[in-house]
Amino acid sequence: MPTLKVADFAHRYGPVALVAGASEGIGAAFAHELASAGLQLVLVARRAQPLDKLAGELRAVHGVEVRSLRCDLGEEAGADAIIEACRGLEIGLLVYNAAASAVGRFLDTPVATHLRAVDVNARGPMLLAHAFGGPMAARGRGGIILMSSLTAFQGTPFVVSYGATKAFNLVLAEGLWGELKERGVDVLACCAGATLTPGYKRATPLRAEHRLAPKPQDPAEVAREALLALGRHPLVITGRGNRIASFVMRRFFSRRLAVVTMGREMRKRYD
Ligand SMILES: NC(=O)c1ccc[n+]([C@@H]2O[C@H](COP(=O)([O-])OP(=O)(O)OC[C@H]3O[C@@H](n4cnc5c(N)ncnc54)[C@H](OP(=O)(O)O)[C@@H]3O)[C@@H](O)[C@H]2O)c1
Repeated sequence: MPTLKVADFAHRYGPVALVAGASEGIGAAFAHELASAGLQLVLVARRAQPLDKLAGELRAVHGVEVRSLRCDLGEEAGADAIIEACRGLEIGLLVYNAAASAVGRFLDTPVATHLRAVDVNARGPMLLAHAFGGPMAARGRGGIILMSSLTAFQGTPFVVSYGATKAFNLVLAEGLWGELKERGVDVLACCAGATLTPGYKRATPLRAEHRLAPKPQDPAEVAREALLALGRHPLVITGRGNRIASFVMRRFFSRRLAVVTMGREMRKRYD
């Protein structure tokens, strides 16, 4: 895989990157890539311990300035706390990575869990894209990456509300790409497939590995593919196997067949 052109990247998206949902998995991989490109970082997550550990590692390895901020993006005041903590900082890149997923049958899951997914996965990125996109547009440069998923492309049984929020992110990012490119701000929707993160491992039973499904990706690959695609495309589907599977489903399956196929796979995992 090609590597980032570090000087160009820092010039275009520096000096400070904000990674919302940064302490582990794909978010931590973004933080590593961005620190190695010389960007300063603001890292956000709920748990202090993994967040502070990562911040310490990044300072030690890359010598960059890192602030960590404990905050719950599912709470009403979460986004405001981040905006307040970033006052005075020139945020040149926003990566919205945090997500809440409600896995299971829609009706068997409390509606509060679905609403939390809406808050973390849809309300959060909208608030932060609005707050940080404005100053980026005024400066005439910057970038926004919203993490989406292959579940954005069709309804997906057993992660119904999660999939709907990921479709929201995809469409939000594409629309923003169309509006903001003329103001110098690059926006990208990153649609990942199965990725070996702690969150994925916690949520996915062992029996889930299906021999026909693309192999789960490494978080570092996902982050690198997204950063390389920023400024080139409005959407990246990470992983060759995911791109092929997604192409086949979108090109040759009716929407009905796509939902039924996804439902069959999800039932094997979660029912
Ligand atoms: N892993 C996959 O297979 C996969 C596939 C497709 C798409 N994606 C997308 O990729 C992104 C990252 O996935 P992941 O598996 O790396 O996620 P993850 O393991 O669940 O971790 C996400 C990060 O976000 C933080 N976070 C979660 N909820 C938060 C909240 N309410 N407020 C603040 N921080 C929060 C977590 O730390 P704390 O718990 O300490 O808050 C963690 O650092 C998500 O948007 C997901 O939808 C993942």
